[in-house]
Amino acid sequence: MPSVFLASRNPILFGCGVSKQTGEKLKEFGCKKVLVVHDKGVKEAGIVDKILGYIHKAGIETVCFDKVLPDPPDYICEEAGALGVAEKVDGVVAIGGGSSLDTGKAAKVLLTNPPPISRYYLKHEDLVPDESNMKPIIVIPTTAGTGSEATPGGVITDTKNNCKQNVPCATNLGIVDPELTLGLPQSVTVTTAVDALCHCVEAYTSKEANQISDVIAKEAISLIGRNLRKVIKDGSDLKAREGVQLAATLAGLSIMGPFCNIPHEIGLMLGMIFHLPHGIACGITLPEALQYLAPAIPDRIKTVAQLLGADIPENAGSEEIGQIAYTTVRNLYDDIGMPKLKDLVKSKEELAAAVPQIMDYSPFHFSARPVNAEDVLAILEKAYEA
Ligand SMILES: [Fe+2]
Repeated sequence: MPSVFLASRNPILFGCGVSKQTGEKLKEFGCKKVLVVHDKGVKEAGIVDKILGYIHKAGIETVCFDKVLPDPPDYICEEAGALGVAEKVDGVVAIGGGSSLDTGKAAKVLLTNPPPISRYYLKHEDLVPDESNMKPIIVIPTTAGTGSEATPGGVITDTKNNCKQNVPCATNLGIVDPELTLGLPQSVTVTTAVDALCHCVEAYTSKEANQISDVIAKEAISLIGRNLRKVIKDGSDLKAREGVQLAATLAGLSIMGPFCNIPHEIGLMLGMIFHLPHGIACGITLPEALQYLAPAIPDRIKTVAQLLGADIPENAGSEEIGQIAYTTVRNLYDDIGMPKLKDLVKSKEELAAAVPQIMDYSPFHFSARPVNAEDVLAILEKAYEA
């Protein structure tokens, strides 16, 4: 039975140099004063000042909120929203990685809706005015990974219940300019690109994959296979940066319907427990997840491996396909300097202790093969030994 592809409601302007249009685009939305949401790292990299220049040139005032934290906590989102209300802004510009974009999305909701932000977790119907008529937000990713510009919500941390929550918020425009990723440190390039790789691979191997998500996901996987090593070898390779950036946006689109499966289901809780960057926490089990899924969906796992550059014999069985897919992703990880799980977590025992929390949090609804606690433990132990 075909599943639903949720076409994104987020318009996206993509290409080298498009961030220069930020001020003009805000003018088209009728903005006169905007809240600019970012973290201190993006400011230090000089990107915020560059964008502020484009905004001021269009005659638009700005007020900056620079307290964005990783895995954006609810109280920081509320602080950003309160600043926007106090300053009577009529729009938001979020600049940075996924945390800045998600904080900006939550702040947009709070411009016209009273706090706390927890009132709106996954609740479109409570928003005033309705979602499409709220004050506009432009999101400008400076990493190539989360795909937040393509997804209609912000993922924030519910600090009361220590879990991730989704705040509904389509963006009015995503300005995706690969030039902004040129100065990204290698560790951030790896973390975010691996997140993008997970998004498209998980979409393609999801139980709910469909013909539309398949086309988008396969192109994203192929772009990462062709460009990620080049970006790591030479961070100033703009053509390769553009390829990975396009992959990240496509990967964000591809999960609109199939949603994520094993690596993200495990990684979201793993990241919370061991304080790991999102892309690392999710990507760390991707090779094992592909091997685990191979008996259920061998043709799809074969395609993933081939798109990442593997040669697979015509008559290969599911076991061989799973092994090749595993090795292909592990080799990619070795080449790009992906951290090892054994360097991030003290012992296998600590990982085993996390399994009940993972099972409580993750339904594994979208996995093409059922997953129980023993399976999660086996996947984690294998990843630890890699
Ligand atoms: Fe992700």
